[in-house]
Amino acid sequence: MAAVGVHVPVMEREVLEIYEGVAGMDSEAVFVDATLGAGGHALAVLGKFPRASLVAFEQDADARALAAVRLSVYGSRVRIVPENFRRMATLAGREDWPGADGILFDLGVSNMQLTDPERGFSFQDDGPLDMRMDQDGDSITAGEFIATRGVPELARVFREYGEERYAYQIAKALVRERERGESPATTGEFTALIRKTLPAPVQRKMGGHPARRVFQALRIAVNSELEALNEGLDGAIAAAGRTGVIVVISYHSLEDRIVKRRFLKWSTEGLGRALTKRPFTPGSDEIEANRSSRSAKLRAFIKGETANKGKKSRRHGQDESALGKA
Ligand SMILES: C[S@@+](CC[C@H](N)C(=O)[O-])C[C@H]1O[C@@H](n2cnc3c(N)ncnc32)[C@H](O)[C@@H]1O
Repeated sequence: MAAVGVHVPVMEREVLEIYEGVAGMDSEAVFVDATLGAGGHALAVLGKFPRASLVAFEQDADARALAAVRLSVYGSRVRIVPENFRRMATLAGREDWPGADGILFDLGVSNMQLTDPERGFSFQDDGPLDMRMDQDGDSITAGEFIATRGVPELARVFREYGEERYAYQIAKALVRERERGESPATTGEFTALIRKTLPAPVQRKMGGHPARRVFQALRIAVNSELEALNEGLDGAIAAAGRTGVIVVISYHSLEDRIVKRRFLKWSTEGLGRALTKRPFTPGSDEIEANRSSRSAKLRAFIKGETANKGKKSRRHGQDESALGKA
């Protein structure tokens, strides 16, 4: 069995710099971590802002248990909410909610999820075809998904979420196996079916593993990730305080597009402005040290501030160009 890898927080420096722009080091700032994971970003934020408190959403019970141990030194400054961040709007609905100074979404799966074969996210190891981030919720497993959806739905998911050119052929092959009573039940069986379906020269030319795109697509569908992001952003703009920032790190072009469009819409509506004209990306040092960061894109939005205050922002007390490569 493969060792379960610890998650290294992505673009941590950039997140802290953005937070420093809105919250004084000594202030009783309130932060929200929408995707707690192993608590890497949370630890960094709580360490940097000694009087701040943090509310953290996490839908994966294993991740919550690990993060709770790692964050236990911070005692009552941390509250872990065992929910999908779709429910972020409930914070804003609370009478005593002060408004968040910073909200972070670090989307996708963690290294712990990816490297544990029992979770079924990995095409590298054999395990049950599960892929649910929330194993206690209502969502069906990846195995159930491919065993119950028709060719058009499967092909749409593989094409739209995975940009897989052979989406239709893979969907057809799946349904054919199913009709023979041989629907894949493990990640190994599913990978073998993909390998059998894709023409050999195509597989040879592919940059990554031939099953990578389809696995990613299936994971996005099983966890309704795009729907969750849309609802989470609605909740975030409501839960952010008067000058709160919303920071989103995404790893998929569809997610980044949703974030970009939403920030544009909020700007047009006069709710605030984007701090990142173009997304920030990790530097080569970070990518070298942590390969999982290579596709990361970070965008940030500040609520309640509509005019670009120029290069030196007095409110942020920092040169915006220092925030990155905007
Ligand atoms: C990339 S990891 C976050 C890692 C974290 N920032 C750290 O430094 O350790 C993403 C985490 O978000 C969780 N997650 C993803 N979508 C979620 C959602 N809609 N609601 C709650 N948690 C979610 C996943 O279960 C996973 O643990």
